[in-house]
Amino acid sequence: MNAYIETFGCQMNERDSEILAHLLGRAAYQQTSTIDDADLVLINTCSIRGKAEQKAMSLLGRLAIRKKKEPRLKIVVAGCVAQQEGQRIIDRVPQTDLVIGPQEIYRLPEYLDKVVRSGKSLVANDLVDRFKIPDLGHVSPAPAASRFLTIMQGCNNFCTYCIVPYTRGRETSRPVADITAEARKMIDSGTSEITLLGQNVNSYGLDRGEENAFPTLLRRVASLPGLRRLRFTTSNPKDLSPTLMACFRDLDNLCPWFHLPVQSGSDRVLRRMNRKYSRREYLDRVAGLRDACPEIAITTDIIVGFPGEEEPDFADTMRLVQTVGYHSAYSFKYSPRPGTVAAGFDGMIEEEEKSRRLALLQSRQNEITLAVNRGYEGGEVEVLVEGTGRDPGQWRGHSRHNVVVNFTADAPVAVGDYCRVRVVQGCMNSLRGEKI
Ligand code: SAH
Ligand code: SF4
Ligand code: F3S
Repeated sequence: MNAYIETFGCQMNERDSEILAHLLGRAAYQQTSTIDDADLVLINTCSIRGKAEQKAMSLLGRLAIRKKKEPRLKIVVAGCVAQQEGQRIIDRVPQTDLVIGPQEIYRLPEYLDKVVRSGKSLVANDLVDRFKIPDLGHVSPAPAASRFLTIMQGCNNFCTYCIVPYTRGRETSRPVADITAEARKMIDSGTSEITLLGQNVNSYGLDRGEENAFPTLLRRVASLPGLRRLRFTTSNPKDLSPTLMACFRDLDNLCPWFHLPVQSGSDRVLRRMNRKYSRREYLDRVAGLRDACPEIAITTDIIVGFPGEEEPDFADTMRLVQTVGYHSAYSFKYSPRPGTVAAGFDGMIEEEEKSRRLALLQSRQNEITLAVNRGYEGGEVEVLVEGTGRDPGQWRGHSRHNVVVNFTADAPVAVGDYCRVRVVQGCMNSLRGEKI
């Protein structure tokens, strides 16, 4: 039997989809890359913004229609919408066989078996406070040069716009031994770049009462033989400590890239977002990072049109992107999420106004990104080859700064190789170069 997985949302969902694929394999399903060939379709959903949720739900709607003609098709909804909506998904789309939350995915084969035996739909979306991610030592990952490794679940921050604390529960850190064992397995299977994942990796270990456990973990993982590149994401700026900054000075294989979501440049908006840092504190941390590692590439997330954001607040954000000079930024229009505090705030901004601000911000950031990328012209970067580029004869990968590089090569190149590349041109979304 064939299974098709469609993944929406963040890297944690991507990693969960790998685990789900493995578990489906144990339930005798093989992966297919064509949805029409599938006997089972699993949608791993995201509810961070309304649009992400609508995309997943419209795919579910199309599958429900198909299932009317093809009753043997199994439909599974996993991820954050599954967690949040639970039984309501089955009420709306009764063709759904299984709704499974992020903490329940490890029991997928058992639940599938139940669904098949009973012929009835099932909802599994328990959310407990001290959830322990099972030891995944048995998951032998498909070989890949670059992989994600989840080090913690959940979030305790309750930023007022954000649904994650409701869909992923409280912060729970995995034991160091589980993480290093999983990293070792990945390295043994040919991985040389690992990205550690969590919603706020800086608070890794705090749920066990350990201060500064994340820098210690980083040092442990960085010391594993065979690991050429180490990255992590994401960090709430409020917890970014000097001890973590020092890692960028000390660890050769820790890549000079830091994703540091700012959300807004206005203190008034930051307070209403419950971000727990000021513009000043944020800029101080950026300066601290650059002091520890002058070449570090800083990227960010920004929300425009948060309730009550006025023209001077937005101007503060525009000034901040200029001041920091981000390598790149993901920016979003504020989207009210059910159950979050900000969804009940006064001062909702019109959609059109949000779009206007987003366009202004993005065009400013594009200019900055282009200038940053031009700054690499004539220099050399190291690229981990991930595949072929867009043009024939081109290869593609990321630099240590996490910038996409497309390059040509005279000699043979293979996926997983590290190449030295001379940058010929800095473009808006990538660098173009030639292998040295
Ligand atoms: N844990 C990460 C963020 C994860 S969500 C952090 O704290 O930085 C990824 C991004 O989605 C956020 O940084 C934010 O910019 C955006 N986001 C979250 N909720 C949103 C909402 N309701 N509307 C618009 N963007 C949102
Ligand atoms: Fe959401 Fe804030 Fe937690 Fe990030 S830190 S996941 S934005 S609540
Ligand atoms: Fe989306 Fe859930 Fe990740 S809401 S961003 S899939 S934690």
